[in-house]
Amino acid sequence: MAVKIALLGFGTVASGLPFLIKENTNKIEKAAGSKIEIAKVLVRNNAEKQGLEEKGYDYHFVTSIEEILEDSEIDIVVELMGRIEPAKSFIISALNAGKHVVTANKDLIALHGKEIRELAEQLHLAFYYEAAVAGGIPILRTLANSFTSDKITRVLGVLNGTSNFMMTKMVEEGWSYEEALNKAQALGYAESDPTNDVEGIDAAYKVAILSQFAFGMTLDFNDVKHQGISSITPEDVLIAQKLGYVIKLVGSLEETKSGIAAGVMPTFIPQDHPLASVSGVMNAVFVESIGIGESMFYGPGAGQKPTATSVMADIIRISRRLKDNTIGKAFNEFKVETKLADKKDISSLYYLAIETSDEKGQLLRLTKIFNDQDVSLRQVLQDKAKDGRARVVTITHAVSEKQLDDLTQKISEEEGFQLLNRFKVLGD
Ligand code: HSE
Repeated sequence: MAVKIALLGFGTVASGLPFLIKENTNKIEKAAGSKIEIAKVLVRNNAEKQGLEEKGYDYHFVTSIEEILEDSEIDIVVELMGRIEPAKSFIISALNAGKHVVTANKDLIALHGKEIRELAEQLHLAFYYEAAVAGGIPILRTLANSFTSDKITRVLGVLNGTSNFMMTKMVEEGWSYEEALNKAQALGYAESDPTNDVEGIDAAYKVAILSQFAFGMTLDFNDVKHQGISSITPEDVLIAQKLGYVIKLVGSLEETKSGIAAGVMPTFIPQDHPLASVSGVMNAVFVESIGIGESMFYGPGAGQKPTATSVMADIIRISRRLKDNTIGKAFNEFKVETKLADKKDISSLYYLAIETSDEKGQLLRLTKIFNDQDVSLRQVLQDKAKDGRARVVTITHAVSEKQLDDLTQKISEEEGFQLLNRFKVLGD
């Protein structure tokens, strides 16, 4: 007997599922232990239904969720509508109706995942979401399964294709932020409101989800600090190159002695680090662990077929578990109490760009502020800024987040200095 699935939404990703089912029938059936049949598809209204039928799709389109919830033959509900509502209510109703659920909805999982996971576990139903992080990269199941015997100490990720495309163009072609954004919008990568992509929010959602799998800790989304790419200037890009780095938006999760530190920030990556070569819309997750050491998982973070492949993997896993009578296990069984790192235990090198008047003694005053905060400098460069002013850039030795906050506070209080940018730098 076939496992019957219902799709909620029939956009880009959902319409990639029939391709896989058709092109890969034999392998999918063997892995799933049954045929997989798209039994119903929920669309918004009759106009959408008619449009899809005219395009040649002959699915059983419905416009009411009840038609899916009340259909006892449907085993799995696959939510591909995105955003929070009505996706959240539909998923909760599907679980309450005894359906297993697959979704690619990172916003929903990062913001409300705990509540939904607990409901699914209580009802012994599957709730899987491999496609929610880095679309086509099979990273969540890899962390949950293949890293079981390993202890992860740090995860770094290029997790947003839109901003990575923009950064790549700013670095390789010398485009400004605005030029890169216009091109990303013209190519359909960035939405008309690009806030989530460029301000690091989309990447922060993915960091929050990764923390469950890498560290067993559920983070409140507000515990993931995020800073986007909109303040990066061509001068920052050039200085990074001069010093042997590439700037990228990097999501990070790190174990410290007091707990976990999570964030998203523009980061200088040494040109010979594997993450430096992740260009264009590609994503990568770089894992540091005590067993494997260093490993990197690279691939497309979005797109129809890559994302549909991850969604399909969840559907197949559920089908197999149904067949083997092992259904009801959590996607990730590793859970520990969430402990957040104290700011004084989170340490990194930092890049600071500061503007000041081009006068004798200014550099001395600036280095005194660093010295008073016990911050040691690794590199210092001075350049001309506009209107005869000077731009001083420094790369610090490792400082704690607490020291960095105190330092930037002091710089802002000191007359004649303006902090233009502060980014992380990967290195020891
Ligand atoms: N908008 C995302 C990106 C893809 O640009 O990577 C889905 O998370």
